[in-house]
Amino acid sequence: MPDQHRPRIATTRAGLRAALAGAPRPIGLVPTMGALHDGHRALLERARRENATVVATIFVNPMQFDNAADLAAYPRTEAGDLAICGEAGVDLVFMPGGDEVYPPGFDTTVHVDRLTRGLEGEHRPGHFDGVATVVAVLLNLAGAERAYFGQKDAQQLLVVRRMAADLAIPTEVIACPTVRDRDGLAISSRNVRLTPAQRAAAPVLHRALRAAEAAWRAGERSGDALRRAMLDALAAEPLADPEYVSVAEPATLREVDEATGPVLLSMAVRFGEIRLIDNLPLA
Ligand code: PAF
Repeated sequence: MPDQHRPRIATTRAGLRAALAGAPRPIGLVPTMGALHDGHRALLERARRENATVVATIFVNPMQFDNAADLAAYPRTEAGDLAICGEAGVDLVFMPGGDEVYPPGFDTTVHVDRLTRGLEGEHRPGHFDGVATVVAVLLNLAGAERAYFGQKDAQQLLVVRRMAADLAIPTEVIACPTVRDRDGLAISSRNVRLTPAQRAAAPVLHRALRAAEAAWRAGERSGDALRRAMLDALAAEPLADPEYVSVAEPATLREVDEATGPVLLSMAVRFGEIRLIDNLPLA
């Protein structure tokens, strides 16, 4: 069996810069918090197809966790992550310690305003400040031509794109489709923390999105009726505790009264301690 490709590893800012000096361009960057799964694999593989050099970052960013227990419980799977990076043909993995991302004296927060007022931003205060700040640092450090983000975190994608445009960071932000298990559950690092019963119940998110989509395709345009279609589908699953459902304009994330144009359906649903999100763009 041929030796598996092993990516280089950098753990410091200086090491990253040195490894990328003279690297073939374009560079494609895939920022992650590790616990890599098939969703990340799709990002890495697309970056591999479209770039001469592929860099993955693995950093569990404390600044974006609004809840210490959630940060502590976040899965850390370094050996498996490096194996996936190797299989996907990643050239370099940046795995910095906290001081390399936020050196002593770090005193800057990147805040994207209007886009973060609703949905995840409303329910996870400070979360997007943490995401925008760390992604700004990572984009600046890597100087990549392209960076890849999953559509599953639809609000994150919009926030990162806005941030990069507003701060004149020249990296192109590329959206990649949500990867789902066969039963429709969107793949997420949090899925492994579901009990078997919760895992069996979790595809209800996708069913609820599909129920609203079916109503929309049948001509329903009332935002309230579409939100109700999602809530009714979720109510059929006793383990599912909805936090919000949304029918919003895809560019601004403002809730719509009438879905006269394209909309983004989205939701957050709790299964015990585990909080899952999903979305479906309709156009
Ligand atoms: O989506 C994630 O894994 C994280 O929010 C990101 C973009 C890597 C920033 O820490």
